[in-house]
Amino acid sequence: MPNLKETLEGARDEALEALAELTSEDEVEALRIRMLGRKGIVPAAMKEMGSLSAEERPEVGKVANIVKNQLQDALQAKLHELQAASRTVAVTGLDVTLPGRRRRIGLKHPISRVMDECVEIFRRQGFIAADGPDIENEYRNFDALNTPADHPARDLQDTFYFPDGRLLRTHTSPVQIRVMESQSPPVRIVAPGRCYRRDTPDPSHVPNFHQIEGLYVAENVSLAELKGTLYNFAHEMFGKDVKTRFRPHFFPFTEPSIEFDISCVKCGGTGDAENGRCPLCKSSGWLEVAGAGMVDPAVFEAVGYDTEKYTGFAFGMGIERLAALHYAITDIRLLYENNVRFLEQF
Ligand code: PHE
Repeated sequence: MPNLKETLEGARDEALEALAELTSEDEVEALRIRMLGRKGIVPAAMKEMGSLSAEERPEVGKVANIVKNQLQDALQAKLHELQAASRTVAVTGLDVTLPGRRRRIGLKHPISRVMDECVEIFRRQGFIAADGPDIENEYRNFDALNTPADHPARDLQDTFYFPDGRLLRTHTSPVQIRVMESQSPPVRIVAPGRCYRRDTPDPSHVPNFHQIEGLYVAENVSLAELKGTLYNFAHEMFGKDVKTRFRPHFFPFTEPSIEFDISCVKCGGTGDAENGRCPLCKSSGWLEVAGAGMVDPAVFEAVGYDTEKYTGFAFGMGIERLAALHYAITDIRLLYENNVRFLEQF
Protein backbone atom coordinates (compact mmCIF):
# COMPACT_ATOMS: atom_id res chain seq x y z
CA MET A 1 0.00 0.00 0.00
CA PRO A 2 2.33 2.75 -1.26
CA ASN A 3 -0.09 5.54 -0.43
CA LEU A 4 0.33 4.95 3.34
CA LYS A 5 4.02 5.61 2.88
CA GLU A 6 3.23 8.73 0.84
CA THR A 7 0.70 9.87 3.45
CA LEU A 8 3.34 9.62 6.17
CA GLU A 9 6.00 11.41 4.18
CA GLY A 10 3.55 14.07 3.05
CA ALA A 11 2.37 14.67 6.61
CA ARG A 12 6.00 14.91 7.76
CA ASP A 13 6.91 17.46 5.09
CA GLU A 14 3.92 19.59 5.97
CA ALA A 15 4.69 19.37 9.67
CA LEU A 16 8.34 20.36 9.16
CA GLU A 17 7.28 23.33 7.06
CA ALA A 18 4.76 24.43 9.69
CA LEU A 19 7.31 23.93 12.45
CA ALA A 20 9.73 26.42 10.91
CA GLU A 21 7.12 29.15 11.29
CA LEU A 22 6.27 28.50 14.93
CA THR A 23 7.27 31.08 17.55
CA SER A 24 6.17 29.61 20.88
CA GLU A 25 6.73 26.46 22.88
CA ASP A 26 2.96 26.01 23.18
CA GLU A 27 2.57 25.92 19.39
CA VAL A 28 5.37 23.34 19.13
CA GLU A 29 3.65 21.19 21.73
CA ALA A 30 0.35 21.45 19.83
CA LEU A 31 2.07 20.31 16.65
CA ARG A 32 3.69 17.41 18.51
CA ILE A 33 0.28 16.26 19.75
CA ARG A 34 -1.21 16.57 16.28
CA MET A 35 1.60 14.48 14.71
CA LEU A 36 2.81 12.11 17.42
CA GLY A 37 0.18 12.23 20.15
CA ARG A 38 -1.99 9.26 21.08
CA LYS A 39 -4.50 10.14 18.35
CA GLY A 40 -1.87 11.78 16.13
CA ILE A 41 -1.32 11.27 12.42
CA VAL A 42 1.78 9.03 12.75
CA PRO A 43 0.33 6.60 15.35
CA ALA A 44 -2.90 6.45 13.28
CA ALA A 45 -0.93 5.47 10.18
CA MET A 46 0.95 2.84 12.16
CA LYS A 47 -2.34 1.33 13.28
CA GLU A 48 -3.42 1.03 9.64
CA MET A 49 -0.30 -0.99 8.89
CA GLY A 50 -2.09 -4.08 10.23
CA SER A 51 -4.03 -4.23 6.96
CA LEU A 52 -0.89 -4.35 4.82
CA SER A 53 0.49 -7.46 3.22
CA ALA A 54 3.45 -9.23 4.87
CA GLU A 55 5.87 -7.94 2.20
CA GLU A 56 4.73 -4.33 2.42
CA ARG A 57 4.53 -4.11 6.20
CA PRO A 58 8.31 -4.02 7.07
CA GLU A 59 9.03 -1.41 4.45
CA VAL A 60 6.22 0.93 5.51
CA GLY A 61 7.06 0.24 9.15
CA LYS A 62 10.60 1.37 8.51
CA VAL A 63 9.38 4.58 6.87
CA ALA A 64 6.97 5.19 9.75
CA ASN A 65 9.81 4.88 12.27
CA ILE A 66 12.04 7.19 10.30
CA VAL A 67 9.27 9.79 9.99
CA LYS A 68 8.55 9.52 13.69
CA ASN A 69 12.23 10.01 14.61
CA GLN A 70 12.65 12.89 12.17
CA LEU A 71 9.65 14.65 13.64
CA GLN A 72 10.77 14.02 17.20
CA ASP A 73 14.23 15.42 16.44
CA ALA A 74 12.86 18.44 14.61
CA LEU A 75 10.39 19.24 17.39
CA GLN A 76 13.12 18.89 20.02
CA ALA A 77 15.48 21.12 18.06
CA LYS A 78 12.80 23.76 17.65
CA LEU A 79 12.09 23.72 21.38
CA HIS A 80 15.77 24.24 22.16
CA GLU A 81 15.91 27.08 19.66
CA LEU A 82 12.89 28.85 21.23
CA GLN A 83 14.21 28.35 24.76
CA ALA A 84 17.59 29.74 23.80
CA ALA A 85 15.92 32.76 22.18
CA SER A 86 13.85 33.50 25.28
CA ARG A 87 16.99 33.27 27.43
CA THR A 88 18.68 35.84 25.19
CA VAL A 89 15.73 38.22 25.68
CA ALA A 90 15.95 37.75 29.42
CA VAL A 91 19.66 38.45 29.40
CA THR A 92 19.45 41.56 27.23
CA GLY A 93 16.60 42.82 29.42
CA LEU A 94 18.80 42.68 32.51
CA ASP A 95 22.49 42.95 31.89
CA VAL A 96 23.89 42.77 35.39
CA THR A 97 27.28 43.87 34.15
CA LEU A 98 26.06 47.34 33.08
CA PRO A 99 27.01 50.24 35.39
CA GLY A 100 24.08 51.59 37.42
CA ARG A 101 21.99 54.44 36.08
CA ARG A 102 22.10 57.46 38.37
CA ARG A 103 18.65 58.65 39.33
CA ARG A 104 18.45 62.45 39.54
CA ILE A 105 16.38 63.45 42.51
CA GLY A 106 14.70 66.86 42.63
CA LEU A 107 15.65 69.23 45.43
CA LYS A 108 13.78 71.91 47.25
CA HIS A 109 14.70 75.35 45.92
CA PRO A 110 16.88 77.31 48.39
CA ILE A 111 14.11 79.95 48.66
CA SER A 112 11.63 77.26 49.71
CA ARG A 113 14.12 75.72 52.11
CA VAL A 114 14.80 79.02 53.87
CA MET A 115 11.08 79.84 53.91
CA ASP A 116 10.22 76.45 55.41
CA GLU A 117 13.00 76.78 57.95
CA CYS A 118 11.77 80.24 59.02
CA VAL A 119 8.21 78.96 59.41
CA GLU A 120 9.53 76.04 61.44
CA ILE A 121 11.57 78.28 63.77
CA PHE A 122 8.59 80.57 64.41
CA ARG A 123 6.24 77.60 64.73
CA ARG A 124 8.34 76.45 67.68
CA GLN A 125 7.68 79.88 69.23
CA GLY A 126 3.93 79.46 68.85
CA PHE A 127 3.32 81.13 65.48
CA ILE A 128 0.89 79.60 62.99
CA ALA A 129 1.38 79.94 59.22
CA ALA A 130 -1.12 82.18 57.42
CA ASP A 131 -1.57 82.98 53.75
CA GLY A 132 -2.79 85.73 51.45
CA PRO A 133 -3.04 86.36 47.71
CA ASP A 134 -0.33 88.01 45.58
CA ILE A 135 -2.92 90.36 44.05
CA GLU A 136 -4.15 92.84 46.63
CA ASN A 137 -6.16 96.00 46.74
CA GLU A 138 -4.66 99.36 47.68
CA TYR A 139 -6.63 99.33 50.90
CA ARG A 140 -4.96 96.26 52.41
CA ASN A 141 -1.52 96.91 50.95
CA PHE A 142 -1.42 100.61 51.98
CA ASP A 143 -4.45 102.36 53.55
CA ALA A 144 -5.23 99.87 56.29
CA LEU A 145 -1.51 99.81 57.04
CA ASN A 146 -1.60 103.53 57.77
CA THR A 147 0.38 104.34 54.62
CA PRO A 148 -0.72 107.77 53.40
CA ALA A 149 -1.76 108.45 49.81
CA ASP A 150 1.36 110.50 49.18
CA HIS A 151 3.76 107.82 50.45
CA PRO A 152 6.54 107.15 47.92
CA ALA A 153 5.90 103.37 48.00
CA ARG A 154 2.54 104.06 46.37
CA ASP A 155 4.23 105.64 43.40
CA LEU A 156 3.79 103.99 40.00
CA GLN A 157 7.57 103.86 39.99
CA ASP A 158 7.59 101.44 42.88
CA THR A 159 4.42 99.38 42.65
CA PHE A 160 2.93 97.23 39.89
CA TYR A 161 -0.70 98.36 39.45
CA PHE A 162 -3.44 96.69 37.44
CA PRO A 163 -5.68 98.93 35.30
CA ASP A 164 -8.53 98.33 37.79
CA GLY A 165 -6.50 99.79 40.67
CA ARG A 166 -5.56 96.51 42.26
CA LEU A 167 -1.85 95.79 42.63
CA LEU A 168 0.78 93.13 43.18
CA ARG A 169 1.47 93.29 46.90
CA THR A 170 4.70 95.10 47.70
CA HIS A 171 5.15 93.31 51.03
CA THR A 172 3.49 90.52 53.04
CA SER A 173 2.04 93.04 55.51
CA PRO A 174 -1.47 92.97 53.92
CA VAL A 175 -1.74 89.44 55.35
CA GLN A 176 -1.72 91.12 58.79
CA ILE A 177 -4.87 92.97 57.73
CA ARG A 178 -6.51 89.84 56.32
CA VAL A 179 -5.86 87.86 59.49
CA MET A 180 -7.07 90.62 61.81
CA GLU A 181 -10.17 91.21 59.67
CA SER A 182 -11.13 87.56 60.00
CA GLN A 183 -10.34 86.81 63.63
CA SER A 184 -10.19 88.51 66.99
CA PRO A 185 -7.15 88.52 69.28
CA PRO A 186 -5.05 86.75 70.28
CA VAL A 187 -3.34 86.21 66.91
CA ARG A 188 0.16 84.86 66.43
CA ILE A 189 0.90 84.21 62.78
CA VAL A 190 3.71 84.14 60.25
CA ALA A 191 2.93 84.65 56.56
CA PRO A 192 5.55 83.67 54.01
CA GLY A 193 4.99 84.59 50.38
CA ARG A 194 5.83 86.40 47.16
CA CYS A 195 6.09 90.18 46.88
CA TYR A 196 6.62 92.49 43.93
CA ARG A 197 8.33 95.81 43.46
CA ARG A 198 9.44 97.73 40.43
CA ASP A 199 13.12 97.30 41.16
CA THR A 200 15.81 97.01 38.55
CA PRO A 201 17.51 93.66 39.16
CA ASP A 202 20.94 93.92 40.79
CA PRO A 203 22.90 91.66 43.17
CA SER A 204 20.54 92.48 46.04
CA HIS A 205 17.25 93.28 44.25
CA VAL A 206 14.80 91.32 42.12
CA PRO A 207 11.35 92.61 41.14
CA ASN A 208 9.70 89.44 42.43
CA PHE A 209 10.98 88.38 45.82
CA HIS A 210 9.77 86.74 49.04
CA GLN A 211 9.12 87.90 52.57
CA ILE A 212 8.00 86.35 55.77
CA GLU A 213 5.68 88.46 57.91
CA GLY A 214 5.10 87.99 61.61
CA LEU A 215 2.25 89.33 63.73
CA TYR A 216 1.47 88.85 67.39
CA VAL A 217 -1.49 90.64 68.98
CA ALA A 218 -2.79 90.05 72.48
CA GLU A 219 -3.14 91.90 75.79
CA ASN A 220 0.13 93.38 77.08
CA VAL A 221 2.38 92.40 74.20
CA SER A 222 5.62 94.34 74.65
CA LEU A 223 8.58 95.48 72.62
CA ALA A 224 10.71 93.20 74.78
CA GLU A 225 8.81 90.21 73.40
CA LEU A 226 9.44 91.38 69.85
CA LYS A 227 13.13 91.68 70.62
CA GLY A 228 13.18 88.25 72.25
CA THR A 229 11.39 86.69 69.28
CA LEU A 230 13.84 88.11 66.72
CA TYR A 231 16.83 87.40 68.94
CA ASN A 232 15.79 83.77 69.21
CA PHE A 233 15.15 83.56 65.47
CA ALA A 234 18.61 84.93 64.65
CA HIS A 235 20.29 82.38 66.88
CA GLU A 236 18.32 79.47 65.46
CA MET A 237 18.91 80.58 61.89
CA PHE A 238 22.52 81.77 62.06
CA GLY A 239 23.94 80.05 65.12
CA LYS A 240 24.53 80.90 68.76
CA ASP A 241 27.58 83.08 68.11
CA VAL A 242 25.73 85.67 66.07
CA LYS A 243 25.34 89.09 67.71
CA THR A 244 22.19 91.16 67.28
CA ARG A 245 21.20 94.81 67.46
CA PHE A 246 18.05 96.89 67.16
CA ARG A 247 18.03 100.32 65.58
CA PRO A 248 15.21 102.87 65.56
CA HIS A 249 13.55 103.20 62.17
CA PHE A 250 10.27 104.27 60.59
CA PHE A 251 7.40 102.28 59.10
CA PRO A 252 3.90 103.79 58.72
CA PHE A 253 2.25 100.76 60.33
CA THR A 254 4.43 100.37 63.43
CA GLU A 255 5.22 102.74 66.31
CA PRO A 256 7.90 102.57 67.48
CA SER A 257 9.60 100.97 64.49
CA ILE A 258 12.95 99.23 64.50
CA GLU A 259 15.35 97.56 62.20
CA PHE A 260 16.99 94.36 63.29
CA ASP A 261 20.61 93.59 62.41
CA ILE A 262 22.86 90.61 62.97
CA SER A 263 26.64 90.62 63.09
CA CYS A 264 28.12 89.97 59.66
CA VAL A 265 28.25 86.26 58.85
CA LYS A 266 31.35 86.80 56.70
CA CYS A 267 33.67 88.91 58.83
CA GLY A 268 32.09 87.98 62.18
CA GLY A 269 31.37 91.65 62.92
CA THR A 270 34.97 92.82 62.68
CA GLY A 271 34.46 94.50 59.31
CA ASP A 272 37.63 92.76 58.16
CA ALA A 273 37.13 89.67 56.03
CA GLU A 274 39.88 90.26 53.47
CA ASN A 275 42.64 92.91 53.52
CA GLY A 276 40.94 95.05 56.14
CA ARG A 277 37.62 95.09 54.29
CA CYS A 278 34.39 93.05 54.19
CA PRO A 279 32.41 93.05 50.93
CA LEU A 280 29.28 91.60 52.54
CA CYS A 281 28.65 94.18 55.29
CA LYS A 282 30.70 96.90 53.55
CA SER A 283 32.96 96.74 56.63
CA SER A 284 30.18 97.96 58.93
CA GLY A 285 30.18 94.61 60.76
CA TRP A 286 26.36 94.45 60.64
CA LEU A 287 23.72 93.03 58.29
CA GLU A 288 20.14 94.20 58.25
CA VAL A 289 17.71 91.26 58.36
CA ALA A 290 14.27 92.55 59.42
CA GLY A 291 11.96 95.52 59.74
CA ALA A 292 9.70 95.44 62.77
CA GLY A 293 7.86 97.37 65.42
CA MET A 294 4.83 97.66 67.66
CA VAL A 295 1.61 97.66 65.64
CA ASP A 296 0.42 101.26 65.20
CA PRO A 297 -2.99 101.82 66.84
CA ALA A 298 -4.18 103.27 63.50
CA VAL A 299 -3.85 99.72 62.05
CA PHE A 300 -5.91 98.27 64.90
CA GLU A 301 -8.56 100.91 64.23
CA ALA A 302 -8.71 99.88 60.55
CA VAL A 303 -9.52 96.30 61.49
CA GLY A 304 -11.77 97.13 64.43
CA TYR A 305 -9.49 95.93 67.25
CA ASP A 306 -9.81 97.61 70.65
CA THR A 307 -6.73 99.84 70.88
CA GLU A 308 -7.15 100.23 74.65
CA LYS A 309 -7.11 96.52 75.23
CA TYR A 310 -4.62 95.12 72.74
CA THR A 311 -1.06 95.70 71.73
CA GLY A 312 1.03 93.77 69.27
CA PHE A 313 4.21 93.53 67.32
CA ALA A 314 4.91 92.83 63.67
CA PHE A 315 8.02 92.07 61.65
CA GLY A 316 8.94 91.43 58.05
CA MET A 317 12.02 89.81 56.56
CA GLY A 318 13.30 89.28 53.04
CA ILE A 319 13.76 85.59 52.27
CA GLU A 320 16.28 86.15 49.46
CA ARG A 321 18.40 88.18 51.83
CA LEU A 322 18.26 85.44 54.45
CA ALA A 323 19.08 82.81 51.82
CA ALA A 324 22.02 84.89 50.55
CA LEU A 325 23.41 85.21 54.09
CA HIS A 326 22.69 81.60 55.00
CA TYR A 327 24.25 80.09 51.88
CA ALA A 328 26.83 82.84 51.20
CA ILE A 329 25.28 83.74 47.83
CA THR A 330 26.66 87.04 46.60
CA ASP A 331 24.05 87.74 43.90
CA ILE A 332 20.40 86.90 44.60
CA ARG A 333 19.61 86.94 40.87
CA LEU A 334 21.31 83.53 40.77
CA LEU A 335 18.32 82.19 42.70
CA TYR A 336 16.10 82.98 39.72
CA GLU A 337 18.21 81.78 36.83
CA ASN A 338 17.16 78.12 37.20
CA ASN A 339 20.67 76.89 36.61
CA VAL A 340 20.47 73.34 37.94
CA ARG A 341 24.20 73.16 38.62
CA PHE A 342 23.88 76.21 40.88
CA LEU A 343 20.68 75.08 42.59
CA GLU A 344 21.93 71.51 43.16
CA GLN A 345 24.51 72.75 45.68
CA PHE A 346 21.98 73.42 48.40
N1 PHE B 1 6.57 95.52 55.37
C1 PHE B 1 7.86 96.05 55.71
C2 PHE B 1 8.75 96.06 54.45
O1 PHE B 1 8.41 95.44 53.49
C3 PHE B 1 8.53 95.23 56.78
C4 PHE B 1 7.82 95.32 58.09
C5 PHE B 1 6.87 94.38 58.42
C6 PHE B 1 8.13 96.34 58.99
C7 PHE B 1 6.19 94.45 59.63
C8 PHE B 1 7.47 96.41 60.19
C9 PHE B 1 6.53 95.48 60.50
O2 PHE B 1 9.79 96.70 54.44
